[in-house]
Amino acid sequence: MIRSVITGTGSALPANCVSNADLAERVDTSDEWIVERTGIRQRYIAGEGETTSTLAIDASRKALAAAGVDAGEIGLIILATATPDHTFPATATQVQAALGCGGGVAFDVQAVCSGFLYALATADSLLRTGMAKKALVIGSETFSRILDWDDRTTCVLFGDGAGAIVLEAKDVAEDGPGILASRLHAEGAHKDMLYVDGGPSTTGTVGKLRMKGREVFRHAVVNLADVLREVLEETGMKAADIDWVVPHQANARILDATARKLDLPSEKVVVTVDRHANTSAASVPLALDTAVQDGRIKQGDLVMFEAMGGGFTWGASLARM
Ligand code: ACO
Repeated sequence: MIRSVITGTGSALPANCVSNADLAERVDTSDEWIVERTGIRQRYIAGEGETTSTLAIDASRKALAAAGVDAGEIGLIILATATPDHTFPATATQVQAALGCGGGVAFDVQAVCSGFLYALATADSLLRTGMAKKALVIGSETFSRILDWDDRTTCVLFGDGAGAIVLEAKDVAEDGPGILASRLHAEGAHKDMLYVDGGPSTTGTVGKLRMKGREVFRHAVVNLADVLREVLEETGMKAADIDWVVPHQANARILDATARKLDLPSEKVVVTVDRHANTSAASVPLALDTAVQDGRIKQGDLVMFEAMGGGFTWGASLARM
């Protein structure tokens, strides 16, 4: 059977690491409050010359090298971001040009923090229909550029970064590698809980992120546990079969609460929120690459990806590495 197989991962972070103590010099907050409520200790913030496309290009080059795939072989690029370099063209096309893989398909998807899950499921579908043989699926964000740096309730939570995977259509055995199932959801009625108060068609400005954190938290735990169960049901797997969960890194407490609801031991959950904070669409591929690089995630492992973000949007995918 034809499946989309993850053959390489890569990630990139800006040079500038900002600690909670650094932030406490700017807004009325403390390392103690941020660690206790979120688990975040530091985040990376893009500087001059670092953008969503430069981070994406860096992460993609590493993913291509890890997969042993030449940029010219890539026929599909899907880049998930809510912070593109420009309103248009799509940042994916800038990545395509920089890598030198012209001629194929390249576009952005926008599902905020669930963006990578939306991009992964879309790429998987397109690969299995034969639209392309090899794809780059990227999550890249510079949320620092849409934060209100005077709002302590949001500015401490986010960071910048990028993660990328190479996804290849391969003929595999039933128990072989590849994406086994994906489920996506959206519920647009909740827009006011997490949104940016600007945009090209409304204010004509970029705008700043606004969030009702407590409400988002409540919805996240319920929605994520539900979608994880859906994917498990579809594949006939049990929570105990999962080797690793690579979740969207919004808040350590959301990760703990979701794992508890599914009886998943916390040692199976890849956590990077302490080092990277919430990097929106980049967080899942960034966490995946971290756990591949440090040797935790290995070939043959069953890995669950999950995310929830603005919209609300949410989703999960189960893959064998
Ligand atoms: N430093 C110090 N105090 C703060 C800070 C801060 N950075 N931020 C808020 N506070 C204060 C509040 O003003 C409030 O004070 P008050 O009681 O005097 O009014 C108090 O701390 C408690 O505030 P809450 O908002 O009730 O704190 P809560 O325990 O809910 O934690 C948090 C807030 C961390 C935002 C939490 O609600 C959360 O993590 N929500 C989910 C957010 C999230 O994950 N969003 C992203 C998901 S989707 C996506 O990734 C785009």
